[in-house]
Amino acid sequence: MRAFMIVCLLATVVYGLPEGVANNDGEKEIDETAILGSSDVVVDSSLQNVIIDRRADFVSGKLYTKHKGKKKPMKKEQKGDGKVWVFLVAGSDGWSNYRHQADICHAYQTLVLRGIPKENIIVMMKDDIAMHASNPYKGKIMNEPNGTDVYEGVIIDYRGEDVTPENFIKVLEGDKKAMEGIGSGRVIESTENDKIFVNYDDHGSYGYVVFPNRAKLSAQNLTEAVHRMIAKKKFNKMILYLEACESGSMADSLYSSNSSVLVVTASGRFESSWACYCNEETMPCLGDAFSVRWMGDLYQEFITTNKTIFEQFDYVRSSTYRSHVNIYGDYNLANMRIHEFFGKNFKARSNPLQRKPAKPLDDELVDARDASLHWLKKMSKTYAKSANKFSKMVETIENGRELIDNVFFDIVVAVTTSEKEFKNVIDGRHSINLKIFDCYENLVNTFSDRCVDIYKNAYTLRHLRKLYNLCLLEKTPSRQILPEYMKAIESVCDDRTLALSEID
Ligand SMILES: *[C@@H]1O[C@H](CO)[C@@H](O)[C@H](O)[C@H]1NC(C)=O
Ligand SMILES: *[C@@H]1O[C@H](CO)[C@@H](O)[C@H](O)[C@H]1NC(C)=O
Ligand SMILES: *[C@@H]1O[C@H](CO)[C@@H](O)[C@H](O)[C@H]1NC(C)=O
Ligand SMILES: *[C@@H]1O[C@H](CO)[C@@H](O)[C@H](O)[C@H]1NC(C)=O
Repeated sequence: MRAFMIVCLLATVVYGLPEGVANNDGEKEIDETAILGSSDVVVDSSLQNVIIDRRADFVSGKLYTKHKGKKKPMKKEQKGDGKVWVFLVAGSDGWSNYRHQADICHAYQTLVLRGIPKENIIVMMKDDIAMHASNPYKGKIMNEPNGTDVYEGVIIDYRGEDVTPENFIKVLEGDKKAMEGIGSGRVIESTENDKIFVNYDDHGSYGYVVFPNRAKLSAQNLTEAVHRMIAKKKFNKMILYLEACESGSMADSLYSSNSSVLVVTASGRFESSWACYCNEETMPCLGDAFSVRWMGDLYQEFITTNKTIFEQFDYVRSSTYRSHVNIYGDYNLANMRIHEFFGKNFKARSNPLQRKPAKPLDDELVDARDASLHWLKKMSKTYAKSANKFSKMVETIENGRELIDNVFFDIVVAVTTSEKEFKNVIDGRHSINLKIFDCYENLVNTFSDRCVDIYKNAYTLRHLRKLYNLCLLEKTPSRQILPEYMKAIESVCDDRTLALSEID
């Protein structure tokens, strides 16, 4: 046993720690057959920056050749083509997460400018930023340095306590009755002729995106909702743009080549997404790299109106440097023209929001999971008098993170019985399989209750994949947490580990 522990300790140096320039939890291996073998291709790649980018180009080029031949000629809009419904959701709260609500407000302005009727847009966001005590620009929200206010005019349907995963699902599915008396009560009242565009921005983890008030939405929840919508003929086509860490994992269980659902994610399954515009002295990061890119592309589209969604993806993917923008699902949708989904008012050129596509400087990018830490470090420079206080906070957080690494490590050591098993759990990179999701969900909830609260300490989110991998071990029946897993958790976790929840 002792020898095994030593091997594990060595192994964690090699496998357990963040590596690479590209991201803090990037994939190391690409499943070639997954990429080249089927039309449900996942353009999901990472190695190190340069290598990955070339690989992604190759893959994307392949895809592009395969699909561009299918570009349909521009046709006149026909009656009965259906409406476009838009659902914009920021799942975070708090000053340090400023950027998510900024992205969402900006998306609202962009789509309204492009001619999507306001009555077809539903907005869900906490709305605690514009009037936040820390906001030096009271009542305003910006999505880029010296930017235009994107808050004014946004009609928010669900704010504050109404920002929940349950409400998200009900609004998406068009459950008007369930939403009676909550917020504006508006839902996506789509028919089988309609298109739905969903843009979600927040923190994510393996198979999850999170919401305020200790809530999360799982890949399973989202997949089930979309399947119900397909069964009830709730849309003709649906596109989701997801900005969150590990957001590729939300799409795994959703995609199939004939579903009429297309998902574009800010990052692959195993990597962070990146915040941008992080250098303003008194402000948190103002935007997210993927979000400002796709909106920037829409502004360019006021001029070149023929671009397809796939071409937009190609632009956004190749100009988002630190994470891998991926595309999943039904590629027939990607051959549609941008204006078929994102409005077609090309006359809005004089609007102040319209500018060249954003090109955030590399040095303004920050790993989304380090955005709060980055803010504290910046504060310690900006406010020299309180520098000590801020530096102390930074130190506490960094120490806490190391302890949290150890908690996961110790649990895996306690459960696994060989070096091979240990490696599989620490290092395994798999796509989400809903058949074992219940086991995973149980483990995540138990971990959160007994070890470290994942809702309070977002750093834990980067490790959850290891809990998923525990559910993959051969001895694990599909849905249960084995007694030995509980025993491991009990032996590792106590009030001291729970106390780590507070230092994020
Ligand atoms: C923002 O405005 C300030 C003052 O007008 C200027 O110095 C700075 O360069 C501007 N920043 C950007 C990113 O445009
Ligand atoms: C998500 O799935 C879990 C597990 O099945 C369930 O308990 C929860 O209520 C679901 N959440 C939503 C919003 O549907
Ligand atoms: C997609 O195809 C599969 C098998 O080919 C079929 O079972 C399924 O119903 C199809 N789904 C849709 C949404 O058409
Ligand atoms: C869009 O494509 C059509 C047909 O391919 C062409 O006639 C038109 O000029 C193009 N418009 C622009 C703005 O490129």
